[in-house]
Amino acid sequence: MNYEGWDQDYLKNKELYQNLFDKVMQEDNEKNIEFLEKKIAKYVGREHAVAINSATDALFFSLKCFNVSAGDEVLVSDFSWISSASCILMARATPVFCDIDLDSYHISFDEIKKKTTSKTKALIYTHLFGNMTETKEIEKYCKENNIAFIEDAAQSLGSIYKSRYAGSIGDISSFSFNSNKVISGLSGGGMVLTNVKIIADYLRKLRRHGKGNDHEMLGYNSKMFYTNAAYIEMRFDRIKELQLLRTQVAYKYHEALQDIPVISQIPDDMSMLHNYHKYVVRFENKEIRDEVKDELGAKIHYDKPLSANSMFKLKPCPNAQIASDTILSLPCHPYVTDEEALTTAMIIGVMA
Ligand SMILES: Cc1ncc(COP(=O)(O)O)c(C=O)c1O
Repeated sequence: MNYEGWDQDYLKNKELYQNLFDKVMQEDNEKNIEFLEKKIAKYVGREHAVAINSATDALFFSLKCFNVSAGDEVLVSDFSWISSASCILMARATPVFCDIDLDSYHISFDEIKKKTTSKTKALIYTHLFGNMTETKEIEKYCKENNIAFIEDAAQSLGSIYKSRYAGSIGDISSFSFNSNKVISGLSGGGMVLTNVKIIADYLRKLRRHGKGNDHEMLGYNSKMFYTNAAYIEMRFDRIKELQLLRTQVAYKYHEALQDIPVISQIPDDMSMLHNYHKYVVRFENKEIRDEVKDELGAKIHYDKPLSANSMFKLKPCPNAQIASDTILSLPCHPYVTDEEALTTAMIIGVMA
């Protein structure tokens, strides 16, 4: 099953891609990184955006911006992509895994409160699958307890909840442009967004070997290259069109799965505009899920709670374990045909 659709996007828009290639091969213009940064910052409503190599670096750099280091604890969902937790180890701090709410797959506020200690310095809040939920209470709680709210919006570019754009929430946020994202670069990419100029300046040094006037501090090699930025911009300029196509696919699944005993993903909450990065369904148990997975050749995001990975070897949180055991991602990209969506739903209907 094809989960990304960028090959089809190329075939349908060959001229656009080839003309851009012709243009970028004749230019060498660092200023174009700035155009992309300004464009995305304006779109989400942040003051500054800093383009870098990946969202993994973006999360690691975000922790550094808030001086998170050895001895500090960082709250993180037990159900996410590994980067949400590995960035904490990169900063030499300790990840504290929190369970999720099964109706959103997002970190549970009760768990956040339960697992806060005097060492808690930051929270990594992931809008999983492009879904967004109300975070105002959590943001308030973080402020009151001096905890940095780091928004992991890697999967959520284009999602909007009650007029708030993913990427505009909390103290600092980040996007990913890796190949499975709604907007991807030719060689991945990431972006950090902040409203604070000194943080943006610090991030620009971090991404380029600490370079200010000279190499002023220890930095990293995390630049985004112009050619990549140009392709991200070209795709980002089409975000509405691409998002509409994804939404049509999601609603096709929704309609076709209505009378089938699976929990589908569409939020009932109409205050949300979803980017449909993923369309996930949940089955009654692991056995059925695994059978359907094998029949469809489908993918699981994620087949283990983060804490269960051998790099951590901890006891996983119960709801994260349920999600890992019963969830399945259906292909959801702009070029999934009606026929493909209906066939997938029909197979699920027969097997579930
Ligand atoms: C929730 C989440 N956070 C962080 C990342 C890291 O992104 P990148 O692959 O750009 O490093 C990803 C990427 O898949 C992700 O899904």
